[in-house]
Amino acid sequence: MGTDIKAAVLGAGMYVPPKVVTNDDLAKLMTTSDEWIVARTGIKTRHYVEGETGAADLAYEASVEACRNAGIEPGDLDCIVFSTLSPDYNFPGSGVLLQARLGAPGVPAIDIRNQCSGFIYGLSTADAFIRAGQYRRVLVVGSEVHSTGLDFSDRGRDVAVLFGDGAGAVVLGPIAADEGRGVLATRLHSDGGGAKDLWVEAPASRYNPRLTHEMLDAGKHYPAMNGKKVFVNAVRAMPTVVGECLAGAGLKIGDIDLFIPHQANLRICTAVQEHLGLSDTKVFNNIQKYGNTTAASIPIAVCEAQREGRLKRGDLLCIASFGSGYTWAAALIRW
Ligand code: UT7
Repeated sequence: MGTDIKAAVLGAGMYVPPKVVTNDDLAKLMTTSDEWIVARTGIKTRHYVEGETGAADLAYEASVEACRNAGIEPGDLDCIVFSTLSPDYNFPGSGVLLQARLGAPGVPAIDIRNQCSGFIYGLSTADAFIRAGQYRRVLVVGSEVHSTGLDFSDRGRDVAVLFGDGAGAVVLGPIAADEGRGVLATRLHSDGGGAKDLWVEAPASRYNPRLTHEMLDAGKHYPAMNGKKVFVNAVRAMPTVVGECLAGAGLKIGDIDLFIPHQANLRICTAVQEHLGLSDTKVFNNIQKYGNTTAASIPIAVCEAQREGRLKRGDLLCIASFGSGYTWAAALIRW
């Protein structure tokens, strides 16, 4: 693998559907309150799709913006990496739907199924492709439509209040390593021992038939979560994987200019920030507006941080995630 090449972020884009849903709106559907949701999660609003809108549709908008900001046409892409836990259909993956809409003829579309860590898994994949010289313009997109798959009754209120719809994308391309920019390190982990702590059980290929009326009545097609276990593991794993990444790049915590944690819960983000000893000026959160958008949360936050002048050329950006799987990951990028 060529060591003289790094993968730089050439442009970023994001998209959230226009419909805004407040905590008070959710309180009309289930027993919850603005006070509970804000105190436990930090979330004030989230965006939901309307009509028949899939993850690939949101991804398309974010990808077009990312290409524009990278100064390329979608037709210039030579690889698409699409991360989502809410694909438009069971198969084929959303990557090919995005490929067709973008008009990037014949380019490969890879689907990544690593939930909250999906974006960093995708970034790491794209980084390896670019450093190997296999592809030159790789789109990495995270996109989720949660709102059509949530249980808006009291049974599902712990999960339903958390999630929102949205998409974020970056275009990566090769840059000479001596320019100092680009992806400096990535670290990926999984532990399937926690698979059932945050999952959607059905439809499932291990059941025959895959979906029954009984499963529907029991709500097996909705996400189910052991929130406390996920919370504790997230707070433990994210600082550790950030440390691994820093060590891999020969850097230290004080070198980080901006830290963007996966936006799962503001309390998780704050606890991770405290573990890392980072000041508020070095951390970017926007879960208050969007809720948890899973694979999209990090690229949406990256995009907004850049727009707001919080992320500038030459800054050392650190991103980290933990979620369903379990999967967890981190990356360091010289912007
Ligand atoms: O994207 C990565 C994956 N996801 C996460 O990282 C999420 C991790 N977990 C969490 O964010 C938190 O565990 C939650 C926000 C989901 C829950 O917060 P918590 O502080 O762990 O609350 P809890 O589950 O211990 O529930 C406390 C109480 C319970 O009532 P009782 O048993 O004390 O009477 C729940 O039934 O709050 C109740 N509750 C609610 N009340 C009002 C649960 N959900 C709601 C709700 N509104 N939406």
